[in-house]
Amino acid sequence: MNILRSVRSRLTAIYLLSVAVIAIPGVYLIYSRSLKVMEGELGKYAFNTAISAARNVKYGVLLGDKESLRSEVIQVMGNPDVVYVLVSDAGGRVLIQRYRGGWDSYPLPPMETAPGDLSTKEQVLRDKKGMKFIDIFTPVVASKAQDPDLYVQKALYGFTEKGELPGETRLEKIGGVRLGVTFANAYARVKKTLFSSIAIFLVITAFGSILSLSLLSRYLANPLRRMADTAYWIAMGNLKKRVKVKGSHEISSLAESLNYMVDQLQSTIAQLEKVNDRLRREMDEKDDFLRAVSHDLNAPLRNIAGMASMLMRRYSDSLDEKGKDRLSRIMRNVEKEQELIAELLELSRIKTRRQPFSMVDLNEVVEQVIDELSYDIEAKGGTVLIKDKLPTIYCERSRFKQLFQNLIDNALKYSKEDEPPRIEIGFQERDEDYLFYVKDNGIGIRDEDKERIFHVFRRVQSPQISKVEGKGVGLAAVKRIIEVYGGDIWVESKYGRGSTFFFSLPKNAGGMGNGRKR
Ligand SMILES: Nc1ncnc2c1ncn2[C@@H]1O[C@H](COP(=O)(O)OP(=O)(O)OP(=O)(O)O)[C@@H](O)[C@H]1O
Ligand SMILES: [Mg+2]
Repeated sequence: MNILRSVRSRLTAIYLLSVAVIAIPGVYLIYSRSLKVMEGELGKYAFNTAISAARNVKYGVLLGDKESLRSEVIQVMGNPDVVYVLVSDAGGRVLIQRYRGGWDSYPLPPMETAPGDLSTKEQVLRDKKGMKFIDIFTPVVASKAQDPDLYVQKALYGFTEKGELPGETRLEKIGGVRLGVTFANAYARVKKTLFSSIAIFLVITAFGSILSLSLLSRYLANPLRRMADTAYWIAMGNLKKRVKVKGSHEISSLAESLNYMVDQLQSTIAQLEKVNDRLRREMDEKDDFLRAVSHDLNAPLRNIAGMASMLMRRYSDSLDEKGKDRLSRIMRNVEKEQELIAELLELSRIKTRRQPFSMVDLNEVVEQVIDELSYDIEAKGGTVLIKDKLPTIYCERSRFKQLFQNLIDNALKYSKEDEPPRIEIGFQERDEDYLFYVKDNGIGIRDEDKERIFHVFRRVQSPQISKVEGKGVGLAAVKRIIEVYGGDIWVESKYGRGSTFFFSLPKNAGGMGNGRKR
């Protein structure tokens, strides 16, 4: 189901996005904090190592005992973070030096302190690869007095345990220890810890997302899918379907709204069906009435016509001119009325009295209509163009002839006085139906008249129209024919700029799967 897929994928995207939003700055923060702490720890370590080395090499420096210096230096280098150790004498001459691989070529900047300066100096530098390391120098101090260690302690830490001893000048700088402590290992350790933490985090996140997505599908996507299914069945016409959603959250209230909407729809449809039934009954009654009235009027009219022509035959000699004229006017009017009644009767029979069905080539039908109207077409200097090849359909030939005859006749009748009529008949095959049109360049129809002209006896009220003879029955008959076939008819027009009458016809109209084109 599309909705489910989309809800699920959207939720996953939101979930992962929020994890990323939290995790990326979090990881960065932890990483930089850990580095800071590590750097601090290493700084302390470097300081302590330098101080204790300075103390330990004191006698080696004083006595020039290379062996003891070497063993001390080896011991200091035992820590992999220490990358070099240099021990020098009071004049700055290097007595012993040790480097870890590659460090002997690194150009260390000078860092000798003045002879009287007994403080420890340190600086943070970067190695050839750009990695930070601490370079630290501590002077080796001694006293020729009896308790030399005490003086050393004072020099290093600035205090004594046994109280102030006289004369700091008795302390002497006899050499120096310089060593380098790299951050590389610490960084690698932090990175390793960080990567393993990220890996654990990702595993937890993956489990978390699976769990939360399954919960979300249970509480969100599944009810939504059920709703989508139900909506589908309702759309297919099964109005008895309802969504079952438990709980009192937003989704269940949505489901309740959907159910309520279907309830309303059901009762509206029931009401509409009732109204439709009533309308259908009323229409049938109207048809019956039309048929009855037309039929009942026909007999007396026939009588009047018969009487009038009998009067004209037998008594015309005894009538003066005025009487003859009146009599012939009666006869013309009666004739007109009879024609009208015949048309009304015909209109009422469109539904009830079906004509024989056959496969009808509409091209032939239209050509026949054009042929029959050719006198009027020529008289107006008009043209009729069949733009597309029309289909062959299973229908009542006479009704379709009547249909095209009325539409083309109107297009001719309601043309502009100063412009010859140009009529175009076209057709388009769509998925379910055919769409036909009859287009003219005539006087056009105002918006307010577009609906009513399809009702019987409704002619447009204008001097232009009144000049043209017509009963107002043609379009009503056309509409009925189309409706009997399940189609629809409408007009598009701009007043003064011609009209186009469209009508659609379902392909299965006539009940035999129309749609065969020649
Ligand atoms: N092609 C058209 N252009 C402009 N107005 C039109 C056109 N077709 C119809 N009408 C308007 O619609 C009215 C109804 O048309 P309809 O064909 O039903 O009756 P009619 O042409 O007046 O009489 P008849 O019953 O003889 O056809 C017309 O009187 C006219 O005002
Ligand atoms: Mg007409």
